[in-house]
Amino acid sequence: MKSNLVIAIDGPAGAGKSTVAKMLADKLNNIYIDTGAMYRALTLKALDLKSNLDSSQELSKLAKNTEIKFKKVHGEDRILLDGKDVSKEIRSKEVTNNVSLVAKVPAVRRQLVKLQRKMAQNQGVVMDGRDIGTVVLPDADIKIFLTATVEERTQRRYDELKSKGKDVNFEDLKSEISRRDKLDRERKVAPLKMAEDAIELDSTILTIKEVIKRILKFCQEESY
Ligand code: CDP
Ligand code: CDP
Repeated sequence: MKSNLVIAIDGPAGAGKSTVAKMLADKLNNIYIDTGAMYRALTLKALDLKSNLDSSQELSKLAKNTEIKFKKVHGEDRILLDGKDVSKEIRSKEVTNNVSLVAKVPAVRRQLVKLQRKMAQNQGVVMDGRDIGTVVLPDADIKIFLTATVEERTQRRYDELKSKGKDVNFEDLKSEISRRDKLDRERKVAPLKMAEDAIELDSTILTIKEVIKRILKFCQEESY
Protein backbone atom coordinates (compact mmCIF):
# COMPACT_ATOMS: atom_id res chain seq x y z
CA MET A 1 0.00 0.00 0.00
CA LYS A 2 1.19 3.55 -0.72
CA SER A 3 2.67 4.75 2.56
CA ASN A 4 2.43 8.48 2.01
CA LEU A 5 -1.33 8.74 1.61
CA VAL A 6 -3.02 11.99 2.60
CA ILE A 7 -6.26 11.17 4.39
CA ALA A 8 -8.88 13.73 5.45
CA ILE A 9 -11.53 12.80 8.01
CA ASP A 10 -14.37 15.22 8.70
CA GLY A 11 -17.66 14.97 10.53
CA PRO A 12 -19.69 16.15 13.53
CA ALA A 13 -18.71 15.83 17.20
CA GLY A 14 -18.47 12.32 18.59
CA ALA A 15 -18.55 10.55 15.22
CA GLY A 16 -15.27 8.82 16.09
CA LYS A 17 -12.94 10.95 13.97
CA SER A 18 -10.01 11.33 16.35
CA THR A 19 -10.09 7.72 17.61
CA VAL A 20 -10.17 6.38 14.07
CA ALA A 21 -7.67 8.91 12.65
CA LYS A 22 -5.13 8.19 15.38
CA MET A 23 -5.33 4.41 14.89
CA LEU A 24 -5.15 4.74 11.11
CA ALA A 25 -2.08 6.96 11.33
CA ASP A 26 -0.40 4.37 13.57
CA LYS A 27 -1.23 1.55 11.17
CA LEU A 28 -0.03 3.48 8.11
CA ASN A 29 2.96 4.99 9.87
CA ASN A 30 1.67 8.46 8.98
CA ILE A 31 1.52 11.51 11.17
CA TYR A 32 -1.78 12.41 12.81
CA ILE A 33 -3.01 16.00 13.07
CA ASP A 34 -5.97 16.79 15.31
CA THR A 35 -7.10 20.19 14.01
CA GLY A 36 -9.89 20.42 16.58
CA ALA A 37 -7.22 20.41 19.29
CA MET A 38 -5.69 23.51 17.66
CA TYR A 39 -8.99 25.46 17.78
CA ARG A 40 -9.44 24.23 21.36
CA ALA A 41 -5.94 25.43 22.36
CA LEU A 42 -6.60 28.91 21.01
CA THR A 43 -9.97 28.97 22.80
CA LEU A 44 -8.27 28.00 26.07
CA LYS A 45 -5.86 30.91 25.69
CA ALA A 46 -8.71 33.33 24.87
CA LEU A 47 -10.63 32.19 27.97
CA ASP A 48 -7.56 32.40 30.21
CA LEU A 49 -6.85 35.93 28.99
CA LYS A 50 -10.54 36.84 29.30
CA SER A 51 -10.59 37.93 25.65
CA ASN A 52 -13.86 39.14 24.18
CA LEU A 53 -15.09 36.12 22.20
CA ASP A 54 -17.40 38.38 20.19
CA SER A 55 -14.48 40.44 18.91
CA SER A 56 -13.07 39.02 15.66
CA GLN A 57 -10.29 41.58 15.82
CA GLU A 58 -9.16 40.52 19.29
CA LEU A 59 -9.28 36.81 18.40
CA SER A 60 -7.47 37.38 15.14
CA LYS A 61 -4.65 39.22 16.94
CA LEU A 62 -4.49 36.44 19.49
CA ALA A 63 -4.19 33.77 16.76
CA LYS A 64 -1.29 35.66 15.16
CA ASN A 65 0.55 35.83 18.48
CA THR A 66 0.11 32.21 19.49
CA GLU A 67 2.38 29.23 18.92
CA ILE A 68 0.69 25.83 18.59
CA LYS A 69 2.73 22.66 18.14
CA PHE A 70 2.28 18.91 18.47
CA LYS A 71 4.83 16.70 20.17
CA LYS A 72 4.96 12.94 20.69
CA VAL A 73 5.65 12.00 24.31
CA HIS A 74 5.96 8.26 25.08
CA GLY A 75 4.09 7.54 21.82
CA GLU A 76 1.23 9.89 22.66
CA ASP A 77 0.36 13.08 20.79
CA ARG A 78 0.52 16.11 23.07
CA ILE A 79 -0.37 19.68 22.14
CA LEU A 80 1.82 22.59 23.19
CA LEU A 81 0.34 26.08 23.51
CA ASP A 82 3.13 28.67 23.62
CA GLY A 83 5.39 25.86 24.81
CA LYS A 84 3.08 24.52 27.53
CA ASP A 85 1.43 21.09 27.35
CA VAL A 86 -2.33 21.78 27.47
CA SER A 87 -3.58 18.39 26.17
CA LYS A 88 -5.80 17.90 29.21
CA GLU A 89 -7.02 21.49 29.69
CA ILE A 90 -8.33 21.78 26.12
CA ARG A 91 -10.94 19.06 26.84
CA SER A 92 -12.68 21.08 29.59
CA LYS A 93 -16.40 21.79 29.38
CA GLU A 94 -15.74 25.51 29.18
CA VAL A 95 -13.45 25.13 26.17
CA THR A 96 -15.85 22.68 24.50
CA ASN A 97 -18.78 25.06 24.88
CA ASN A 98 -16.90 28.09 23.49
CA VAL A 99 -14.67 26.65 20.79
CA SER A 100 -17.18 27.06 17.93
CA LEU A 101 -17.35 30.82 18.62
CA VAL A 102 -13.60 31.14 18.17
CA ALA A 103 -13.55 28.76 15.18
CA LYS A 104 -16.07 30.80 13.19
CA VAL A 105 -13.77 33.83 12.96
CA PRO A 106 -12.35 33.94 9.37
CA ALA A 107 -8.96 35.40 10.36
CA VAL A 108 -8.52 32.72 13.05
CA ARG A 109 -9.23 30.03 10.47
CA ARG A 110 -6.81 31.54 7.95
CA GLN A 111 -4.06 31.45 10.55
CA LEU A 112 -4.69 27.86 11.66
CA VAL A 113 -5.28 26.49 8.16
CA LYS A 114 -1.89 27.91 7.11
CA LEU A 115 -0.28 26.09 10.03
CA GLN A 116 -2.18 22.84 9.32
CA ARG A 117 -1.04 22.80 5.67
CA LYS A 118 2.55 23.41 6.76
CA MET A 119 2.39 20.52 9.24
CA ALA A 120 1.07 18.19 6.53
CA GLN A 121 3.64 19.14 3.90
CA ASN A 122 5.48 16.40 1.98
CA GLN A 123 4.44 13.43 4.08
CA GLY A 124 1.74 10.86 4.66
CA VAL A 125 -0.84 12.30 7.01
CA VAL A 126 -4.20 11.61 8.60
CA MET A 127 -5.90 14.88 9.52
CA ASP A 128 -9.29 15.20 11.18
CA GLY A 129 -11.61 18.15 11.65
CA ARG A 130 -14.55 19.86 9.96
CA ASP A 131 -13.10 21.44 6.79
CA ILE A 132 -10.15 19.19 5.95
CA GLY A 133 -11.58 17.70 2.75
CA THR A 134 -13.21 20.97 1.65
CA VAL A 135 -10.61 23.60 2.55
CA VAL A 136 -7.39 22.47 4.25
CA LEU A 137 -6.43 19.51 2.03
CA PRO A 138 -8.71 19.64 -1.03
CA ASP A 139 -6.33 17.33 -2.93
CA ALA A 140 -6.30 14.61 -0.26
CA ASP A 141 -6.05 11.05 -1.63
CA ILE A 142 -8.95 9.87 0.53
CA LYS A 143 -11.72 11.93 2.10
CA ILE A 144 -14.01 10.38 4.67
CA PHE A 145 -17.11 12.06 6.06
CA LEU A 146 -17.75 10.17 9.26
CA THR A 147 -21.24 10.43 10.75
CA ALA A 148 -23.51 8.79 13.35
CA THR A 149 -26.90 9.76 14.76
CA VAL A 150 -26.85 12.46 17.42
CA GLU A 151 -28.17 9.93 19.98
CA GLU A 152 -25.29 7.54 19.29
CA ARG A 153 -22.72 10.35 19.35
CA THR A 154 -24.11 11.61 22.65
CA GLN A 155 -24.05 8.10 24.09
CA ARG A 156 -20.38 7.72 23.12
CA ARG A 157 -19.41 11.02 24.76
CA TYR A 158 -21.57 10.15 27.78
CA ASP A 159 -19.81 6.78 28.23
CA GLU A 160 -16.42 8.42 27.77
CA LEU A 161 -17.10 11.12 30.41
CA LYS A 162 -18.68 8.63 32.84
CA SER A 163 -15.66 6.35 32.55
CA LYS A 164 -13.53 9.32 33.63
CA GLY A 165 -15.72 9.75 36.71
CA LYS A 166 -17.42 12.92 35.44
CA ASP A 167 -20.92 13.87 36.51
CA VAL A 168 -22.88 14.14 33.28
CA ASN A 169 -26.51 14.39 32.14
CA PHE A 170 -27.44 12.74 28.81
CA GLU A 171 -29.96 15.36 27.70
CA ASP A 172 -27.66 18.30 28.56
CA LEU A 173 -24.84 16.66 26.66
CA LYS A 174 -27.11 16.06 23.67
CA SER A 175 -28.12 19.76 23.61
CA GLU A 176 -24.47 20.86 23.84
CA ILE A 177 -23.46 18.59 20.97
CA SER A 178 -26.44 19.68 18.83
CA ARG A 179 -25.72 23.36 19.49
CA ARG A 180 -22.06 22.98 18.50
CA ASP A 181 -22.95 20.99 15.35
CA LYS A 182 -25.42 23.70 14.35
CA LEU A 183 -22.84 26.48 14.82
CA ASP A 184 -20.25 24.47 12.86
CA ARG A 185 -22.70 23.66 10.02
CA GLU A 186 -24.14 27.15 9.69
CA ARG A 187 -21.06 29.35 9.91
CA LYS A 188 -20.19 31.37 6.81
CA VAL A 189 -16.55 30.34 6.44
CA ALA A 190 -15.56 26.68 6.02
CA PRO A 191 -18.73 25.17 7.51
CA LEU A 192 -18.94 21.50 8.39
CA LYS A 193 -20.06 19.86 5.16
CA MET A 194 -19.17 16.86 3.09
CA ALA A 195 -16.73 17.46 0.22
CA GLU A 196 -18.19 16.48 -3.15
CA ASP A 197 -15.57 13.77 -3.59
CA ALA A 198 -15.76 12.41 -0.02
CA ILE A 199 -17.04 9.00 1.00
CA GLU A 200 -19.76 9.13 3.63
CA LEU A 201 -19.39 6.53 6.36
CA ASP A 202 -22.21 6.16 8.87
CA SER A 203 -20.67 4.63 11.98
CA THR A 204 -23.87 4.46 14.06
CA ILE A 205 -23.82 0.68 14.25
CA LEU A 206 -20.14 0.12 13.48
CA THR A 207 -17.34 -0.59 15.92
CA ILE A 208 -14.09 1.37 15.71
CA LYS A 209 -12.43 -1.72 14.24
CA GLU A 210 -15.06 -1.99 11.51
CA VAL A 211 -14.70 1.69 10.58
CA ILE A 212 -10.91 1.31 10.31
CA LYS A 213 -11.26 -1.85 8.23
CA ARG A 214 -13.47 0.00 5.74
CA ILE A 215 -11.13 2.97 5.47
CA LEU A 216 -8.10 0.68 5.01
CA LYS A 217 -9.96 -0.95 2.12
CA PHE A 218 -10.33 2.46 0.47
CA CYS A 219 -6.61 3.04 1.06
CA GLN A 220 -5.78 -0.23 -0.66
CA GLU A 221 -8.02 0.62 -3.62
CA GLU A 222 -6.41 4.06 -3.87
CA SER A 223 -2.93 2.51 -3.95
CA TYR A 224 -3.60 0.31 -7.00
O1 CDP B 1 -13.74 16.15 19.43
P1 CDP B 1 -14.92 16.95 18.99
O2 CDP B 1 -15.56 16.38 17.77
O3 CDP B 1 -15.86 17.27 20.07
O4 CDP B 1 -14.39 18.37 18.54
P2 CDP B 1 -13.01 18.77 17.97
O5 CDP B 1 -12.67 17.98 16.75
O6 CDP B 1 -12.04 18.80 19.08
O7 CDP B 1 -13.32 20.26 17.46
C1 CDP B 1 -13.72 21.27 18.37
C2 CDP B 1 -14.33 22.40 17.58
O8 CDP B 1 -13.33 23.04 16.80
C3 CDP B 1 -15.44 22.05 16.59
O9 CDP B 1 -16.71 21.98 17.19
C4 CDP B 1 -15.35 23.21 15.60
O10 CDP B 1 -16.03 24.36 16.06
C5 CDP B 1 -13.86 23.54 15.59
N1 CDP B 1 -13.15 22.94 14.45
C6 CDP B 1 -13.22 23.61 13.25
O11 CDP B 1 -13.93 24.59 13.12
N2 CDP B 1 -12.51 23.16 12.19
C7 CDP B 1 -11.74 22.07 12.28
N3 CDP B 1 -11.03 21.67 11.23
C8 CDP B 1 -11.69 21.36 13.50
C9 CDP B 1 -12.42 21.82 14.58
O1 CDP C 1 -13.28 12.92 17.30
P1 CDP C 1 -14.76 12.74 17.44
O2 CDP C 1 -15.40 13.79 18.26
O3 CDP C 1 -15.44 12.57 16.12
O4 CDP C 1 -15.01 11.36 18.20
P2 CDP C 1 -14.04 10.52 19.17
O5 CDP C 1 -13.59 11.41 20.26
O6 CDP C 1 -12.99 9.85 18.35
O7 CDP C 1 -15.02 9.38 19.68
C1 CDP C 1 -15.91 9.57 20.74
C2 CDP C 1 -16.04 8.29 21.54
O8 CDP C 1 -16.78 7.33 20.78
C3 CDP C 1 -14.72 7.63 21.92
O9 CDP C 1 -14.79 7.25 23.27
C4 CDP C 1 -14.65 6.41 21.03
O10 CDP C 1 -14.00 5.33 21.65
C5 CDP C 1 -16.12 6.09 20.81
N1 CDP C 1 -16.43 5.41 19.53
C6 CDP C 1 -17.19 4.28 19.49
O11 CDP C 1 -17.62 3.84 20.54
N2 CDP C 1 -17.51 3.63 18.33
C7 CDP C 1 -17.09 4.11 17.15
N3 CDP C 1 -17.40 3.50 16.01
C8 CDP C 1 -16.31 5.29 17.16
C9 CDP C 1 -16.00 5.93 18.37
